Amino acid sequence: MPAKLTIAIDGPAGSGKSTVARRVAAMLRYLYLDSGAMYRAVALKALERKCPLEDEERLELLARESRIELQPPTAGQEANGLKNRVILDGREVTREIRTEEVAQAASRLATLAGVREVLVAEQQRAGQGGGVVMEGRDIGTVVFPSAELKIFLEASPETRAERRWLEHQEKGDHFSVVEVLEEVYQRDKRDRERKVSPLVRASDAVLVDNTAMGAEETARLIVFLAREIQAEK
Ligand code: CDP
Ligand code: CDP
Repeated sequence: MPAKLTIAIDGPAGSGKSTVARRVAAMLRYLYLDSGAMYRAVALKALERKCPLEDEERLELLARESRIELQPPTAGQEANGLKNRVILDGREVTREIRTEEVAQAASRLATLAGVREVLVAEQQRAGQGGGVVMEGRDIGTVVFPSAELKIFLEASPETRAERRWLEHQEKGDHFSVVEVLEEVYQRDKRDRERKVSPLVRASDAVLVDNTAMGAEETARLIVFLAREIQAEK
């Protein structure tokens, strides 16, 4: 049996993390975990409760009191492009957390150290034991700094915005490409410039720019790297 690795995939919005991580996990028969979905779930709860997004104490408590489960999609959901089911306090919020409003709120509360502390501990618990592909912004730097394989996934801002725009089109949301570019730009800036756990490439992460690569090709490259590491073990 090859050793079960921990694979960390980080990168900016729309770089392909979820799609690629999901495929890598399926190819290696690993568990796929989307850490961003946890920030989005807490953000949804904060918006629903009208909790101010700068009230660190209340938001930390909200995160601490939340039960967030990440489950594999059903076959039907997977056929519709879903990568993860997200259950918040027993309620399915898979679709609700994918709005632009929730994305912006998630990136705001992700600047708060207290909230991050709670979610990072959850992520470490979920991924303990290895055999996991986890994606986010700080997986290789903070959540699993000793992951055997770290990938920093990049793509040009225009490509990332276009990918997101296409997804919106498919869902029937009619944003312009410029609006989506602005949303992605704002979130990236906040994620890269925040004081706690900013989005940064870990010094030992492999930089993969998939601007001109398909998700399948990118996933195969990562699986190739994983197998090389397994062979060395
Ligand atoms: O998780 P992240 O925000 O990094 O990106 P994603 O949600 O996995 O990908 C955004 C969109 O780009 C999805 O619709 C993917 O199918 C698409 N994609 C692509 O066209 N080519 C790639 N190499 C990677 C992702
Ligand atoms: O799918 P997309 O790449 O657009 O975003 P996401 O992965 O669902 O994450 C939503 C927001 O949560 C990000 O903009 C980050 O601010 C935050 N996040 C984070 O700070 N750390 C993580 N490990 C994952 C997400």
